[in-house]
Amino acid sequence: MGLSMATAALWVERWERQQQRYAVDREERFTVVADVVEHVTEGRMNPLIVDLGCGPGSLAVRLARRLPHARIVAVDMDPLLLEFGRTLGPPVVRYVEAVIGADGWTSALGLDGPLDAAVSTTALHYLSDEQLQRVYGQLAGILRPGGVLVNADHLLQEDAADIAAHVGRRRAGRQEAFAHENWESWWAAAQQDPELTDLFAERRRCPGLHGSSRNNGLTVNRHAQLLRQAGFCQVGCVWQVGNSCVLVAVR
Ligand SMILES: C[S@@+](CC[C@H](N)C(=O)[O-])C[C@H]1O[C@@H](n2cnc3c(N)ncnc32)[C@H](O)[C@@H]1O
Repeated sequence: MGLSMATAALWVERWERQQQRYAVDREERFTVVADVVEHVTEGRMNPLIVDLGCGPGSLAVRLARRLPHARIVAVDMDPLLLEFGRTLGPPVVRYVEAVIGADGWTSALGLDGPLDAAVSTTALHYLSDEQLQRVYGQLAGILRPGGVLVNADHLLQEDAADIAAHVGRRRAGRQEAFAHENWESWWAAAQQDPELTDLFAERRRCPGLHGSSRNNGLTVNRHAQLLRQAGFCQVGCVWQVGNSCVLVAVR
């Protein structure tokens, strides 16, 4: 059974609310990522951007609205979330199924030139320290000089980490983020939708989706160290609320 626009829109709307529990000040964070990309792509005709771990395309869609001249490749390993994105568009976003870090994943992106930006939100914490070492190196190889990696995620601070986490929770509470359903209840409810039966069957066949590692627990400084080792310079946090950060690394 094909996925209807109405069903995709319903689940993505619920996704957007659910994700607010995990990404403090999520909407502002998306805006900051777009600010960074806008800055580094100024004057470029059709900048090429990759969204890593795009889910149903939350960031990709916002970037397409903000930078309508950009070409956006959105990559994820989850066929169900990708299908939501493909169904809802817009056409300037091209969705690719691949496991970031697996052999050949950068070729699977089908890029026709160097990237201007690689962006990601609430996704790279899935990758281990070892995987990130490799992935950051690969991204350094496909970004143009002056291009950026923009990682918006919950990143641990070296010091005062507990206080940062508390500040983030309070902020999320004031925005009523915890009134929304959580990750588990979203997936449990989606699984009950008969229109998604085939996509869930396809999802069950994806081995990468059922691993145990979900949060690498890496600090901001460790990310910065890995990025510098991979060949990036000017690595720094350009926005932060609690431990919700936008980390930028310039190639
Ligand atoms: C919490 S969701 C966030 C999705 C989206 N970026 C957002 O902010 O709504 C994390 C996403 O990362 C994807 N992901 C995690 N590890 C991945 C990997 N190694 N390769 C591809 N996708 C991955 C998951 O499938 C999931 O869609």
